[in-house]
Amino acid sequence: MVNLDAESAALGELREGLARSPREIPCKHLYDDRGSALFEEITRLPEYFPTRTERALLEARAGEIVAEAGGAALSDIVELGSGAASKTLAILAAAGAAGGKPRYVAVDISAHALARTQEILGSGVAFEPVLADYTNGLTLPEKPAGGKRLVLFLGGTIGNYEDGEAVRFLSRVREHVEPDDLLLLGANLVTDPAAIHLAYNDARGVTAEFNRNLLRNVNALAGSSFDPDAFDHHAPYVVGQRRIEMWLVARSEMEIDLGRIGGALRLRKGEGIRTEISRRFRRDEVLRLIDAAGWTPVRWLESPDGRFGLALGKSRAALRGLL
Ligand code: AVJ
Repeated sequence: MVNLDAESAALGELREGLARSPREIPCKHLYDDRGSALFEEITRLPEYFPTRTERALLEARAGEIVAEAGGAALSDIVELGSGAASKTLAILAAAGAAGGKPRYVAVDISAHALARTQEILGSGVAFEPVLADYTNGLTLPEKPAGGKRLVLFLGGTIGNYEDGEAVRFLSRVREHVEPDDLLLLGANLVTDPAAIHLAYNDARGVTAEFNRNLLRNVNALAGSSFDPDAFDHHAPYVVGQRRIEMWLVARSEMEIDLGRIGGALRLRKGEGIRTEISRRFRRDEVLRLIDAAGWTPVRWLESPDGRFGLALGKSRAALRGLL
């Protein structure tokens, strides 16, 4: 990506995050091409249940979702953070069965992930890839007149945000659509801590590698000197906060040259950097979140085991110019 503004913004975020207590690196740095491929591998691990739970739920209920989103009038499906998008196939198939042929706009930070999406979709779908970091603003192609849009934010990625950030993000998304367009939001729900713990601490260490890969990305972006192998993957499920916290913990005392981030970072043995939070929600929390962001909840779908939920919300007219 040759975007100097985006790059200096990212360097600023990194500087600020590393100075905070606890130290943090934004989780979007997990997703370069290698990171996206590693995440895809995670979704196939026996321990990582969210993706297959969400996929089964989407497959079972795609018809209802599409009917609620306009049926044959559904003209645009926009997915934020599409990754490999294998789950989206169910929605596209249901739209086809309803007599529609929506365009599929996939927004992702990784070109590799977008290429995989294209590969999975084949040639039968009008596919519009958008290579972008959707956390830094959004440009969407115009939707056809009279059409209806469905925005997908799946995978439980909303759980990477604290409440305030989540509402701000979903409000910004709403500004890009018209009243009555829909949002389908996937969320991980509270379930037993041991199962959640295993999902982020897999036996083969794929999640550990995914976590360490973030440091390679930061090095590539900033010219810093993090040694990924000098850190341990630590990902406890924090019951009181109902979230996984992913950390990289220094195995020994070290000093890291921060390159274009500026200065040096000294870590003592056992000191950590938080790289992700991944929250578990209750139904009412998810519905309140979307409502607070201007999407009126119209439907709630839950997996039979109660581990994953999908909220469908309808965009309310913004009070543009009145506030
Ligand atoms: C892609 C953000 C939904 O939070 O479970 C997987 C990322 N992190 N294993 C999640 C992730 C560690 C994942 N999301």
